[in-house]
Amino acid sequence: MLEARGLAKSFDGFQAVAGVSFTVPPGAISAIIGPNGAGKTTLFNLITGHLRPTAGRVIFKGRDVTGIAPHDLCRLGMGRSFQRTNIFPRLTVFQNVQAAFVSHRGRGWNLLASVERLYGQETEALLDAVGLLDKAGEVSGFLSHGGQKQLELGIALALEPEILLLDEPTAGMSAAETRDSIALIARLARERNLTLLFTEHDMEVVFSIAQTITVLHQGRVIAEGAPAEVRSDPEVRRVYLGERR
Ligand SMILES: Nc1ncnc2c1ncn2[C@@H]1O[C@H](COP(=O)(O)OP(=O)(O)O)[C@@H](O)[C@H]1O
Ligand SMILES: [Mg+2]
Repeated sequence: MLEARGLAKSFDGFQAVAGVSFTVPPGAISAIIGPNGAGKTTLFNLITGHLRPTAGRVIFKGRDVTGIAPHDLCRLGMGRSFQRTNIFPRLTVFQNVQAAFVSHRGRGWNLLASVERLYGQETEALLDAVGLLDKAGEVSGFLSHGGQKQLELGIALALEPEILLLDEPTAGMSAAETRDSIALIARLARERNLTLLFTEHDMEVVFSIAQTITVLHQGRVIAEGAPAEVRSDPEVRRVYLGERR
């Protein structure tokens, strides 16, 4: 589904991502973990076209998509969320997801229908799936942080991605919110047959859901494999214990 080949990015000579390669097979749930500053967000931005790599290629569904604009990648089936939420705060929860449907599918033949009615059923079904149906009429900016993250997930899913990249989906959440959120993401991925790639700085969060984990440290891959292998890797333990000191 997705392959990174030697991806690199420098900012004024500082190598934030220093030659990263990995593959994500179709249907997989994969995580990129690493301490703050490891290069996770930069790596995501390279994959999703928000940043142009200094070196390396991005292969998506067998096609070289390096340097392709984010909206074109989105149309090809690559969805993403952001570490900081990316919603329209003054629109309602319903309107945010509806707007995503309209932008993705267009107005179709409904030229005379009022915009408020477009994709009403689809929007409600999706809000139900992400657990926000009871908040459909609320102004998005007033949702809790966890609620805004759920909404962001709904917006991303309205664009009908084949692969979904989530950048620290549980950032800033309480332990309980994190647990619920991870369970929701895992369920949605299963139900919708999605390939999932997400980043986390907290190692424990990903163990319950990821099938493969790639560990990034100072822009490089230091370990890769099944959760149990990665957890017992001496280099990984050193990096994470070092962070806590
Ligand atoms: N636009 C930028 N300009 C300069 N340095 C940047 C920029 N974006 C990120 N960095 C640096 O690159 C490193 C990796 O950052 P980031 O990818 O955000 O890490 P992570 O998401 O793993 O916390 C950090 O040292 C950060 O300060
Ligand atoms: Mg980040």
